[in-house]
Amino acid sequence: MVAISAFPSLGMHKTAPFWSRYFAQNTERWEEFSQTFEPQRLTLNPDFIKSLQMFQLGEQSEGRCLMHLAQQYGDTHGDPEYIKAIQQFIKEEQRHAHFLKLALQNNESVVIEKDWTDTLFRKIRRLCDLEMMISVLFTAEIIAVAYYGCLAKASEHPLARSLFERICQDEAMHLKFHGEHLRKLRSQGRCITLRSGVNRLFVWLVAGMVWREHYGVLGQTFESFGEFLKRCDGQLSQAISGPIELI
Ligand SMILES: [Fe+2]
Ligand SMILES: [Fe+2]
Repeated sequence: MVAISAFPSLGMHKTAPFWSRYFAQNTERWEEFSQTFEPQRLTLNPDFIKSLQMFQLGEQSEGRCLMHLAQQYGDTHGDPEYIKAIQQFIKEEQRHAHFLKLALQNNESVVIEKDWTDTLFRKIRRLCDLEMMISVLFTAEIIAVAYYGCLAKASEHPLARSLFERICQDEAMHLKFHGEHLRKLRSQGRCITLRSGVNRLFVWLVAGMVWREHYGVLGQTFESFGEFLKRCDGQLSQAISGPIELI
């Protein structure tokens, strides 16, 4: 189980100013971490490198579509703090990409620039309204919490483990952040049951794809696809209605 004691309670609903503050405080925590982080001492398990290259690529995005949709939402609903929080969220994902890049480069690996699953995700995101966009990101966060939790658990090197634990904690907070906003958007929209059902199907589909591509990492913790799917599905429900359990 990954410890989350240094982080705020995940159980209560938060507002956009809370998230904006949270992201600012988390930036300070990462700055402290980076002062002691020595990537040249970090050793990755060679079996995980190909998988990690794909996740590193997924973390790297300028977030232009998301920013545009958040801007529209913030302007229409008089919620500038949401725009700010989304901006900070994008920076946080870029920070993950940066640290994973350092880890890869110091293990004689390169970062990759293209992968079909990443391209597919990016294309889907371009077609989305804000509710759909958040649903897609929300799905990615569910997978990320499970993935980095497995990676932390399976990594023998302490520095690698602490990096993956830290990212896993961030992803759990992102899940909460998007889950709350999704709930808010759905409470104002129509066809909520249908939208939630489509979201659930999408999570199952993505979980299947990720299991196939990243079995080498996920199989270290989950004995079967059924077990992994149960975890993802459970997190989908929890993130919408309550606290999140980390691996
Ligand atoms: Fe991330
Ligand atoms: Fe994330």
